[in-house]
Amino acid sequence: MTDSEKPALPSSWQLTGKVALVTGGSRGIGKAIATLLAARGATVAVNYARSEAAAEEVVETITAAGGTARAYGFDVADTAAVDASIKGIVKDLGGLHILVNNAGISIDGLLLRASVDDLQRTLAVNLTGAFACSKAAARYLLKARTAGRIINIASVVGEQGNAGQSMYAASKAGLIGLTKSLARELAPRGVTVNAVTPGFIETDMTAGVFDEAARAALIASIPLSRVGDAAEVAEAVAYLASPAAAYITGHVLRVNGGLNI
Ligand SMILES: NC(=O)c1ccc[n+]([C@@H]2O[C@H](COP(=O)([O-])OP(=O)(O)OC[C@H]3O[C@@H](n4cnc5c(N)ncnc54)[C@H](OP(=O)(O)O)[C@@H]3O)[C@@H](O)[C@H]2O)c1
Repeated sequence: MTDSEKPALPSSWQLTGKVALVTGGSRGIGKAIATLLAARGATVAVNYARSEAAAEEVVETITAAGGTARAYGFDVADTAAVDASIKGIVKDLGGLHILVNNAGISIDGLLLRASVDDLQRTLAVNLTGAFACSKAAARYLLKARTAGRIINIASVVGEQGNAGQSMYAASKAGLIGLTKSLARELAPRGVTVNAVTPGFIETDMTAGVFDEAARAALIASIPLSRVGDAAEVAEAVAYLASPAAAYITGHVLRVNGGLNI
């Protein structure tokens, strides 16, 4: 089916007139989210930490497809940079309605080899980063009232743990707790806060993590018998970002092929 043959989406799924910030929008899942939110009509701030060229490419792709986007470089673990950048985004783009806390890193290692430094860096990006972005964005999201959205990209590993990923799991479980608390806190103003927990998605983060045998074993453990695509995570995020999801908050939406049914 070509794009022109596809039935139009209902207006409640569209994001026209909304401004969205996607952290870690330069690659992988964040890139898919930024591209889809723009395709649904949002103006998108594409954040990156190091991959400036990749972020500019995402902006070019969005612009070429008729959308609006701009790249913003800052490290989500640098709270002062987060505050200044979010202020700048609001000034440049005219507001902020949707925050997608997607930027993340994974430092893996069994407990005996893991280090407190690695734990602290993981928490700084995956958890403190999301907290700092949410805090800096909160007043603009509150102004957006029932259009205000925070969507946190956690992980199946934060729900069920994984040997060798204690640091990553702790950060993602923390992100789920943050999601539920902020959902309660911001609900009186109509702002919703949800988490999406991807399973195994093909991106740079997961490239080379498994040899062929381990990958086959993983796929055998997934009821849908395949790994996921970043675009499939983006679909869940775009839905939660839309007016159609206005009555959903504090939810953890699993996009994992049934991995933890
Ligand atoms: N892939 C999976 O199977 C999977 C499963 C569950 C959850 N997740 C979660 O989904 C999110 C995206 O993962 P991915 O697989 O797309 O990872 P990825 O391909 O490694 O991309 C990570 C993105 O995060 C950005 N980033 C990293 N550190 C940052 C920082 N300090 N400040 C700002 N941006 C930063 C990177 O930007 P730069 O390149 O500019 O540094 C990049 O855009 C992560 O939160 C991850 O934990 C992934």
